[in-house]
Amino acid sequence: MYQVIARKYRPQTFADVVNQEHVKTTLENAIAQNRIAHGYIFSGQRGTGKTTVARILARCLNCVQGPTNKPCGVCASCLEITAGGSLDVIEIDAASNRGINEMRELRENVRFQPARDRYKVFIIDEAHQITNEAFNALLKTIEEPPAWAVFMLCTTETHKIPATIASRCQQFSFRAVDFEALTARIAWICEQEGIKADAEALAVLAQAGEGSVRDSLSALDQAIACCGDTLAAAEVRSLLGTFSLDSLQQVSQALLDGSSARMLEVVDELERNGHNLQHFSRELARYFRNLLVARIAGGDTRLIAASAAERHRAAEIAAQFSEEDLTRYLQLSLDVFRDLQFSLQPRFHLELGLLRMVQAGRLVSIEEALAGLGGEGASGRGGERAKNPSPITHNASPAPAPGTQHSAPSSWRDKLHATLMELGLTFTADAIEHSEVVEANGELQFTTPREFSLAMKPDDINQAVKRIAGKPMKIKVTIGNAGAPAKAAPPPAAQANELSERALANPEVQRFRDVFGGEVRAIRNLKE
Ligand SMILES: Nc1ncnc2c1ncn2[C@@H]1O[C@H](COP(=O)(O)OP(=O)(O)OP(=O)(O)O)[C@@H](O)[C@H]1O
Ligand SMILES: [Mg+2]
Ligand SMILES: [Zn+2]
Repeated sequence: MYQVIARKYRPQTFADVVNQEHVKTTLENAIAQNRIAHGYIFSGQRGTGKTTVARILARCLNCVQGPTNKPCGVCASCLEITAGGSLDVIEIDAASNRGINEMRELRENVRFQPARDRYKVFIIDEAHQITNEAFNALLKTIEEPPAWAVFMLCTTETHKIPATIASRCQQFSFRAVDFEALTARIAWICEQEGIKADAEALAVLAQAGEGSVRDSLSALDQAIACCGDTLAAAEVRSLLGTFSLDSLQQVSQALLDGSSARMLEVVDELERNGHNLQHFSRELARYFRNLLVARIAGGDTRLIAASAAERHRAAEIAAQFSEEDLTRYLQLSLDVFRDLQFSLQPRFHLELGLLRMVQAGRLVSIEEALAGLGGEGASGRGGERAKNPSPITHNASPAPAPGTQHSAPSSWRDKLHATLMELGLTFTADAIEHSEVVEANGELQFTTPREFSLAMKPDDINQAVKRIAGKPMKIKVTIGNAGAPAKAAPPPAAQANELSERALANPEVQRFRDVFGGEVRAIRNLKE
């Protein structure tokens, strides 16, 4: 009979369990010192080895040679536990036995000594499904268990286990299995099964599981059923609905080129090749997440689940963007992903999302712009980004101490701006950035320059305000020039002239004007 790979290769010893080192070591030490607890909670993501480890621990405890770290695997107890037929290892699926009657039954059962073996082990799978009353019934037993009883609660949702129970158990959290370990495990299984799979195909399968060994092995089953004993990356990809890096890289290239036309072509190609656009949007978000991580942590980082070659390629691409750009693209791609979940017009939404990314453009940080000016002939205004940006040194005037640069009113502006960006409402965020914001009489008053007034969408602002303040506030928008020094009384003319001459002669100020242009409207002496 055909047995699915995940079951066929369920680890039988701690050594076979990949990745969960902290769990294995602690349990092995406990067994070696004969310090067996009466209650264990194994928690963590699905398919990472919780039930597997519970069964291995049961074997360790009940093997004739035991308690031992290395169950023999051949005694009656070991064999029965593997087959799921041991009288003294009782597995309860709490998804279907979650009520008080089942727990009462269990309570009765616990009182009797083991039929043959050392311990009576209760493995309660999906333990978070147990009802509250049933937990209460169980609590009595876990509080004062007979010497032979051991409970192992497996769950993906620890927070649903009542504290009264959790505090009487030792808790182990299982991590998502990392990419390298998962790839190695799949490669090993392929070898055992006589399957030839190239490195890229293995990587695709490992990625498909997102940290769950079971999910990756299910994908492997599917790939073998479809492709036979030779797995090629392209076939596996199309089978699992993942995308080659090509189409994703076309998106980042279009962003570099600022090409809206190219974006539309990407979508068109996807449609013509019958790709699922929802899938694509998910992969796109993952892609930008990886670029952002590569930008921050470099190509050698463990934080990206991809082969070394792929990680370094990501780092190369990421280097062409700023961290801020990639953060915005990730946000925008998550928005597209969310929109596509419910969309009846996925194509339109995808197009819209990708065009928004192009429009969001790339920002040049002030430091980069100023640094770029250093070399002869570099144009600072909005175009070419500086190739090797180095931060300018502030030798002339010390930077303001953190916290002092935001007066109360502009703090509203900053918060609104950040929140709107988070929400992907970039146009309104832009408008806010150019506005003055004052809180007075419980309402927010905005003074917005005419050219930004259209972008001040009340719905967007209300949404952001609600997020920040936790409640709606009245808002009022006046069109006018933000930043004009309405309050400061003008200093005597002569003094003002001298002040402005001095300020305009300052080399930093000159550099700033060269880069950003514009006019100087007001000068204030901060020392006064
Ligand atoms: N850490 C691991 N090392 C090796 N194989 C693993 C590991 N975790 C899971 N597997 C494989 O995945 C299958 C399922 O694992 P297991 O039942 O232990 O997952 P689980 O964590 O209990 O998941 P769930 O929360 O869905 O019950 C196993 O049969 C095994 O093939
Ligand atoms: Mg399980
Ligand atoms: Zn044994």
